[in-house]
Amino acid sequence: MPWWEQAVVYQIYPRSFQDSDGDGVGDLGGITQRLDHLVWLGVDAFWLSPIYPSPLADFGYDVSDYTAVDPQLGSLEDFDELVAAAHERGLRVLLDLIPCHTSIEHPWFREHPDWYIWSPVDGPPNNWVSAFGGPAWSRDEQSGRWYLHSFYPEQPDLDWRNPEVIEAFQGVVRFWLDRGVDGFRLDAIDKLIKDDQLRDDPPATDTFPLPLREDAAQFQRVYSGNRPEAIEALGKIRAAAGDALLVGEVFQPTSEYARYLEVLDLVFAFELLFSPWKAKQLRAAIGPAAELRRVAWVMSNHDFDRLATRVGHENLRAAAMLLLSLPGAAFIYQGDEIGLANGPGAQPPYDRAGRDPMRHPMQWDASPTGGFTAGEPWLPTIDPAGRNVEAQRDDPGSLLQLYRLLIEARRLLGDGFRLLEGFDGIVAFERPEHVVAINVTAGRQPAPVTSQPELTTHPDPLAEGWLAPHAGVIAPKSG
Ligand code: GLC
Repeated sequence: MPWWEQAVVYQIYPRSFQDSDGDGVGDLGGITQRLDHLVWLGVDAFWLSPIYPSPLADFGYDVSDYTAVDPQLGSLEDFDELVAAAHERGLRVLLDLIPCHTSIEHPWFREHPDWYIWSPVDGPPNNWVSAFGGPAWSRDEQSGRWYLHSFYPEQPDLDWRNPEVIEAFQGVVRFWLDRGVDGFRLDAIDKLIKDDQLRDDPPATDTFPLPLREDAAQFQRVYSGNRPEAIEALGKIRAAAGDALLVGEVFQPTSEYARYLEVLDLVFAFELLFSPWKAKQLRAAIGPAAELRRVAWVMSNHDFDRLATRVGHENLRAAAMLLLSLPGAAFIYQGDEIGLANGPGAQPPYDRAGRDPMRHPMQWDASPTGGFTAGEPWLPTIDPAGRNVEAQRDDPGSLLQLYRLLIEARRLLGDGFRLLEGFDGIVAFERPEHVVAINVTAGRQPAPVTSQPELTTHPDPLAEGWLAPHAGVIAPKSG
């Protein structure tokens, strides 16, 4: 069985995890210092959001050099130390690979303009829109030509039909594998290949099940992305990656995932991430994704409202149980284990797409900077006195302790899964020898559990067949 099949992967947002040099920005040295938190929690691996040099138009997702470390985050030596320290502790390391676009400041943009996608006319050749709003085409002032950018104008799209691009990227993959990484999270890969005839996207006919910005929601984006040819291009990444883990960010409904899984090991189950905290909708998000058997369950990340903000603090324990008892790999976003909610962000904002609130620093202790930095944090901490790792480690009833217990317990759940339909307000499913039942409502609900639970979100949540509000249990199947 590959190591990642049941793995728990912890997402680190490097700028906000731990600062080791007092400049207020997290760095690789800081991550190395905090690895024991991950060991204590019991996770198998961590994914680092981008660590490469970047002009920060999209906070690292605009890469200006794929084979270096952003000096603010450290050096290649620091990276090697981090990998060695992780491996010593049995933790695997995943990097974020951003193949769809570079930074406009990447030297490739001037040295190899033919590696990018240009309009054949003097202006946008079609109606494609950027994921962040506005047209997906901008004029390059230097050459006067129009280039494609599926995201910010500072992120020109690479042309994956050009064999030189493929070769360059295969080199990038090998560079990091040689330095010991265990896999990659592939950014925005449904945008990897676009229609070669640059056809207009047709108007949307029905609602897309994932959130889109207003412009994008008006179109069925069948030519500006999610092309069948993307699978072949991804095959080239696979060829360089060998059997390293490849987990894809495919911002598409579950029904689109199967073909990506021909070359990828896992894809994020986004319908779960966006599901309202309601039994029927959660079941609808979980069922088809579970059938694929290779999704990465995820309930939050650096792009969307934090879990606590989305489902409410009262549901965080039940959400943790759901995430960690589904079959297969699960991803935890840093801070969710202590219940960090969205913060106020910065004024003026760093991120034009409004994502600062989900990126506030990790809170390690009760001091004003949460133990994150000895300096002035780049984004303020939110509520370190009320919520931090140190205090929750000392409290057996804390959310953090529950995460740890759930990570330990999931190893005993085995392989196999059956969703139980028909319970109001309850998400329930069977694992080979267990039943998991989660009450997603604020009232008590009858639950399909007859045995003494092995793990509960709250003390004694079951009474005469009723499951307490916001509570969950893992119990032996029969008994
Ligand atoms: C992905 C990243 C997001 C970034 C975008 C463009 O969705 O998660 O942070 O802005 O790709 O690279």
